[in-house]
Amino acid sequence: MTARKKPKVYITRKLPDAVETRMRELFEAELNIDDVPRSPEQLLAAVKTADVLVPTVTDRIDSALIEAAGPQLKLIASFSNGVDHIDVDAAARRGITVTNTPNVLTEDTADMTMVLIFAVLRRLIEGSRVLTEDPGSWAGWSPTWMLGRRIGGKRIGIVGMGRIGTAVARRAKAFGLSIHYHNRKRVNPATEEELEATYWDSLDQMLARVDIVSVNCPSTPATFHLLSARRLALMQPSSIIVNTARGDIIDEAALIQLLKDGRIAGAGLDVFSNEPLVNPKLLKLAQEGKAVLLPHMGSATVEGRIDMGDKVIINIRTFFDGHRPPNRVLPSRL
Ligand code: DGY
Repeated sequence: MTARKKPKVYITRKLPDAVETRMRELFEAELNIDDVPRSPEQLLAAVKTADVLVPTVTDRIDSALIEAAGPQLKLIASFSNGVDHIDVDAAARRGITVTNTPNVLTEDTADMTMVLIFAVLRRLIEGSRVLTEDPGSWAGWSPTWMLGRRIGGKRIGIVGMGRIGTAVARRAKAFGLSIHYHNRKRVNPATEEELEATYWDSLDQMLARVDIVSVNCPSTPATFHLLSARRLALMQPSSIIVNTARGDIIDEAALIQLLKDGRIAGAGLDVFSNEPLVNPKLLKLAQEGKAVLLPHMGSATVEGRIDMGDKVIINIRTFFDGHRPPNRVLPSRL
């Protein structure tokens, strides 16, 4: 019996060692040990020779790149949950399958959403900075100094009640928040009952009534600037917004203006419109204590990254065994 030829797999970024080792065992894997993001020219060369491309959220896999791919490219197995960096429809037109890594980063991302809520309402970064940047300036405990806002008893409005939104809701309920949500579809009655959740078919109406807005929907053409200037202006001046989904779901310029004007009390952002660049006005707001900013760390746990790598491997193996990979992403026209 002749051994089956290993598929040629091109991986755009450094992955956890355990994942890379397994990939080398199973595939003819080209790694990126230095983790320098691949240039468009390098990606172009890769799609002309590789059977499988393993990109991640920092790579732009657009229609031009997909159309330039050689006939050997059969699978784009993304090391990510979101696929907004891939033109899935263009891939489908070329008969290229696309997969992602859902489920395994749900809990970590939901944790980070809660971290941002706490950090904004309880002023974690500002407090920490007092000690780390100017230790001598702390005069000691005072009844009226560095007061934040209580978490329990507030209303959270979750925009996008998929896996991550639901995981946020479970955590938020445990912290005594009441759950409100807006979603294209209402979640099943058992989940709604478990979470004691209030469904709003009107996003506008929900925004005007909650204390915390959590953005948890995917980035698609339909959700681009879903939180538009008009909608953000509906939020109460005492309310805050957190985003662990994608930067382009919020009109960032409008959010900046509302934060500056005090028409929204705070923001906790893990994602930005133009990553890795962050608008200097946002950085200034963070310095002033009006925003907490993180560099897209929502799913950044050792365990999560290994689980993501395992999913990529399973998707590739299943595909080359001639089966439908478990995490196939369907094009929009299906
Ligand atoms: C993803 O995989 O989509 C995440 O944004 C990475 O944290």
